[in-house]
Amino acid sequence: MNLIAKGAEANLYLEDNKLIKHRIKKDYRIKELDTRLRKSRTQREAKLLKNARRAGISVPRVCRIDLKEKKIVMEFIDGKLIKDLIPSLNDDDVRRIAEKLGKMIAKLHNSNIIHNDLTTSNMILENDEVFLIDFGLGATSTRIEDKAMDLVVLKKSLNAAHANKSGLIWGSMLKGYKDFREYDEILKRIAIIEKRARYT
Ligand SMILES: Nc1ncnc2c1ncn2[C@@H]1O[C@H](COP(=O)(O)OP(=O)(O)OP(=O)(O)O)[C@@H](O)[C@H]1O
Ligand SMILES: [Mg+2]
Repeated sequence: MNLIAKGAEANLYLEDNKLIKHRIKKDYRIKELDTRLRKSRTQREAKLLKNARRAGISVPRVCRIDLKEKKIVMEFIDGKLIKDLIPSLNDDDVRRIAEKLGKMIAKLHNSNIIHNDLTTSNMILENDEVFLIDFGLGATSTRIEDKAMDLVVLKKSLNAAHANKSGLIWGSMLKGYKDFREYDEILKRIAIIEKRARYT
């Protein structure tokens, strides 16, 4: 078993070309709460991955889930994190990939799936296809507010991770996101949320 990444809450291993996401004990949490959280996030992540896949969104296929061990065995996406890729791309490629990303998020929101941690560290490009990972904080919701918040989180993370290209990425992402049924409403809601954030 090969450790390939240590996330904030999980160790990620590669074994037999499968990715194992193992949510590990956090000693700063009370034991019972810790066990419950790791179990529910594992369950939630597996469920949302399956729902997203059914909706035609590019996510790793779930092979197996072990609630006792808090492990998900899933398809290994053999690509590059979008976060690491962006600095090496020219503007045309950034535009193209960001638009694909927007189309993917539109599909996600049309299916009432909220990711809740949309960052370029949770996206992998493999064979020119954008894959979304890390659904442990995700949810199902029809509310425009929840979908708008999903995008506000993305916008903030773009500003933090890709300061000099965040405008280009955001603009191109929105082009692809026009596939979302309530596009105009969500743009208005994002503006309201941002205004609210500035004055509180
Ligand atoms: N299915 C996969 N295929 C390939 N790599 C993956 C896969 N799932 C996760 N990874 C790698 O492991 C890293 C961490 O995974 P993930 O984001 O799911 O865990 P996490 O603990 O929630 O991490 P963080 O707190 O850093 O967001 C990813 O950034 C990615 O590099
Ligand atoms: Mg992550």
